[in-house]
Amino acid sequence: MGLIEIKDLKVHYPIRGGFLNKVVDYVYAVDGVDFEIETGKTYGLVGESGSGKSTIGKTIVGLEKATAGEILFENTNVVSKRARKSIGYNKDVQMIFQDSMSSLNPKKRVLDIIAEPIRNFENLSVQEEKKRVQNLLDIVGMPTDALYKYPHEFSGGQRQRLGVARAVATNPKLIIADEPVSALDLSVQAQVLNFMKRIQEEYNLSYLFISHDLGVVKHMCDNIAIMNHGRFVEIGTREDIYNNPQHIYTKRLLSAIPKIDVENREKHKQERRKVEQDFRDLYSQYYDENGRVYDLKTISPTHQAAIKTTEGGGQ
Ligand SMILES: Nc1ncnc2c1ncn2[C@@H]1O[C@H](COP(=O)(O)OP(=O)(O)OP(=O)(O)O)[C@@H](O)[C@H]1O
Ligand SMILES: [Mg+2]
Repeated sequence: MGLIEIKDLKVHYPIRGGFLNKVVDYVYAVDGVDFEIETGKTYGLVGESGSGKSTIGKTIVGLEKATAGEILFENTNVVSKRARKSIGYNKDVQMIFQDSMSSLNPKKRVLDIIAEPIRNFENLSVQEEKKRVQNLLDIVGMPTDALYKYPHEFSGGQRQRLGVARAVATNPKLIIADEPVSALDLSVQAQVLNFMKRIQEEYNLSYLFISHDLGVVKHMCDNIAIMNHGRFVEIGTREDIYNNPQHIYTKRLLSAIPKIDVENREKHKQERRKVEQDFRDLYSQYYDENGRVYDLKTISPTHQAAIKTTEGGGQ
């Protein structure tokens, strides 16, 4: 069942200039995207830096304003603050931020950081609150003595776990996880991802998992959208994207996944070179004359890609 449905979402930031500080142009950070996240599933959002991933995440939680489009959460359009308030949306949808260092208040103790979202929605006694936070620390594998420490006393991986603990504190239905492990080394990445999976199974959570790396999302996501210049270039199931990529940009992201097998290093290098060459040679089949991504075309019931249609009526 669909938990949240995003319909033709656009987020355009005005660029001001000149001496009257008038709007001279717009950054089309998100320019017409559609997708749906099902209960208990993980939807991956993947693309290079600047493609608009965080903007989608922030707009869903209400930190950025949608220029156009709808965000339907359990069938209520939550683009307005009033609508979000009326259905308790801010409790049900939480975000793990891209940068754990700047998103955890350095002046607050862990107890206060994690309890903050709970305080917004519940009236617990001091003892009850402490117990709840201890339990959350336990879930993400942090020791109890973390309660009275400050964010700078932890490593990057530990801070990211604190971010996860804070996000699950209100027992949400959906968590937007913006590059939750990108700043971590590989072994710690796996730990945090495993926590996230465990919590997901336990609470039937849904995730929007944002990453620039197709390697990281592979084991997390049921469905994936590949994003480029504020638009989706390809959407599909995990199998569609990894086994049958259609868009040149998806192929490029796939070839960028680091390979471990040393023996085939030369082969991988050649493959990468070939994809880069194709990207240059075939550019006009995948982007229009303004460099804009085409509309999505159906490849199969689960799979769509933004490819130019040649036979009449297309773009
Ligand atoms: N508040 C803002 N005002 C103007 N432009 C913005 C603002 N926030 C983001 N942008 C622009 O919108 C585009 C998308 O930014 P966004 O942060 O969503 O990208 P991203 O895919 O999350 O990138 P990264 O992988 O680096 O985090 C970028 O061109 C960015 O410069
Ligand atoms: Mg980002």
